[in-house]
Amino acid sequence: MERNAVRRAWDRVGDAYGDFRNADGPETALFAAFAEPLEPGSRILDVGCGDGRRTAAHLVDEFVVLGMDFSRGQLDRLCESVPAATPVQGDMTRLPVADASVDGIVAYYSVFHVPRTQHQTVYDEFARVCRPGGRLILTVSRQAHEGTRQGWLRPDVEMFWSAPGREATMAELDDAGFDVVWARDVVDGLGETVHVALCERREHEE
Ligand SMILES: C[S@@+](CC[C@H](N)C(=O)[O-])C[C@H]1O[C@@H](n2cnc3c(N)ncnc32)[C@H](O)[C@@H]1O
Repeated sequence: MERNAVRRAWDRVGDAYGDFRNADGPETALFAAFAEPLEPGSRILDVGCGDGRRTAAHLVDEFVVLGMDFSRGQLDRLCESVPAATPVQGDMTRLPVADASVDGIVAYYSVFHVPRTQHQTVYDEFARVCRPGGRLILTVSRQAHEGTRQGWLRPDVEMFWSAPGREATMAELDDAGFDVVWARDVVDGLGETVHVALCERREHEE
């Protein structure tokens, strides 16, 4: 499915998604481990932030949060739900963020909307903008999959997902320069099992 069609789908479906997923699911409790070594006031990039209720909202009291999304509709929802976050419109395959300028990155339920052939590019972008020693927490699809669903959450919405599976994702993160601190399954706010990985940006690349 073409990138702009996915973006327009998110413009339309964001409200329904916000109603669909609990904003305080167990996956949000993992932000405590993510944030533990970060100083108050650290800069966090929330990639594919959506309305921010399940991500930015849990971090914004302590940190400077940039909410990044390619959907204008989703950024409007972010501004309404989490006004303390700074909205940034952009695509995760070419982040509109300077090198080594953030201390942590959150990417919950977002990378799998990009074709899996471009996931290495996404992780390379994460590594470029994250300072050495910085953190990344993201959801990872255990199984390889790719496809669209017509009528997802709204009759007029078609949505696209793509992932290479857990082992390939872990290899891509390693290639980008991230060490995995831990990776675990949690039952999320949808009542579904999701795999979450906490990573650290390596200090030095050979
Ligand atoms: C399932 S929602 C998740 C929102 C939020 N991270 C959460 O966990 O509630 C996926 C979000 O990723 C955004 N997104 C998808 N592809 C993107 C891309 N290539 N660049 C930036 N944002 C993207 C969508 O617009 C949407 O807001």
